[in-house]
Amino acid sequence: VASIRCNDFENTILGIAPSTRYQGSKRKILPWIWQAVKEIEFQSVLDVFGGTGCVSYLFKRAGKKVTFNDHLKFNYLSGHALIENDDILLADDEIARLTAPLSRRKSGFVTRTFKGIYFTDTENRWIDTSISRIWELSGDESILSFKRAIAFHALFQTCLVKRPFNLFHRANLYLRQADVERGFGNKATWEKRFAIHFKAFLQEAQKCVFPGLQKCFATNCDALMIPRTNFDLVYLDPPYLRAACQNETADYLSCYHFLEGLARYAEWPLLIENSANRFSLKLALDTRWNELGENTAVFDAVFEKFRNSIIVMSYKKYGSPSIATLKRLLERHGRKVSIRTRHYSYALNQQNGSATLNRECLLIAE
Ligand SMILES: C[S@@+](CC[C@H](N)C(=O)[O-])C[C@H]1O[C@@H](n2cnc3c(N)ncnc32)[C@H](O)[C@@H]1O
Repeated sequence: VASIRCNDFENTILGIAPSTRYQGSKRKILPWIWQAVKEIEFQSVLDVFGGTGCVSYLFKRAGKKVTFNDHLKFNYLSGHALIENDDILLADDEIARLTAPLSRRKSGFVTRTFKGIYFTDTENRWIDTSISRIWELSGDESILSFKRAIAFHALFQTCLVKRPFNLFHRANLYLRQADVERGFGNKATWEKRFAIHFKAFLQEAQKCVFPGLQKCFATNCDALMIPRTNFDLVYLDPPYLRAACQNETADYLSCYHFLEGLARYAEWPLLIENSANRFSLKLALDTRWNELGENTAVFDAVFEKFRNSIIVMSYKKYGSPSIATLKRLLERHGRKVSIRTRHYSYALNQQNGSATLNRECLLIAE
C-alpha cells in the first residue's frame, strides 16, 4: 500500500512513523498537525526544517509530493533514507555484514578523539567499525546512496538512545556509568549493546520505506537558500528560542555535532574546532535562527521567500519572537492567519519550567 488514507489516518500514523529521540521532534503531535491541515488543498509540500523527517513522513503517507530539507547532513541522510527513498532496501546479506560480530575491533577517529566523553572505548570502536562497514557496501551508486543512508539513519538512532538526554552537548558518559539510583534515563536501554540497538533500528527503518503516491525528495540546504519556491504548502518548524534563556538546546549543531561528524566522517578531523569546546564543528551555517534578536529578521525573510505558498508553522507560546509578533509579521505579508494551540509535554526537557506551560502552536497563513 503506497500510503494510508483512511478515516483513522491520524491514529494510524503514530504506529508507523519512524521512532525518534530528537529535540523539538513533532512525532507525538503528528495526529494534531494532520487534523489542522487535512482540509487544506495542497499537493506539493516543503518541510524546511525537517529534523527527523517525521512531519515529512506524515505528508508522504498522506500521498503528498514532499520535499524534506535540513541544513545538517545527518538529518538529510534520514530524509534520503525514509522520504526520498521509494523502495531500495538493504539485502539480508548486507544486513548480516553490517551487524556481524566485530572480529578485529579497529580503532579510528571516534576511538582516538572521544575517549571517555560520550561512549565507552568498546562502543567507540564499534562505531568506527560500523562506519567502515557502511562505506564498504558496494553496488550501483544510485542504489548505494539509499542503502548507506538507511544504515546511517540506524547508526544515528543507536547513538542517540545510548546518550543521557539523547544529546551530545555535555561530556557526561559518567551519568551512564555511575552506580546510583537515577530519576531519569533508561538504564536498560543504556546497557543494551550497540549491535542490538543497531539491528533493531535497521529493521525498523526498512519497514518505514515505501513508495509515495508522488515522487518525494530530500535536500540539504539552508532555509533561505532552498532553490525552488513553487510549493503549494510550506511547513516551518524552526528552532525555538525563549527570551532571557540560554537556549543552548536550540543550537542543533552543538547538540548533535557528533552525529554530524559521523555523517562527514572523512572530513571530520578537519572540521573540529580548535577552541575551548574542542568538539564543535566549523561549518558555515546561518546561526541567526539560534540567536535572540537576530531570528525575527530571518523569520521575515523566510515568509517573504515563500510568499506564494500556504505557510504552516509550528512554534510555542512564550517564545521569542512571540506568537503575536509572528502573526503580525505574516499579516504584514498580506496573510490571513489562524492559530491553533494545544498542550504538549516534552520528553527531553521542560523549557518553560513546568510542563503545563508548554503550549504548542500552529500558525496557518493563507
Ligand atoms: C525544531 S527542529 C525540527 C524538528 C522536526 N520538525 C521534527 O519533527 O523532527 C529544527 C530543525 O531545523 C534545522 N535548522 C536549523 N537552522 C536551519 C537552517 N538555517 N536551515 C535549514 N535547517 C535548519 C535543525 O537542524 C533542526 O533539525
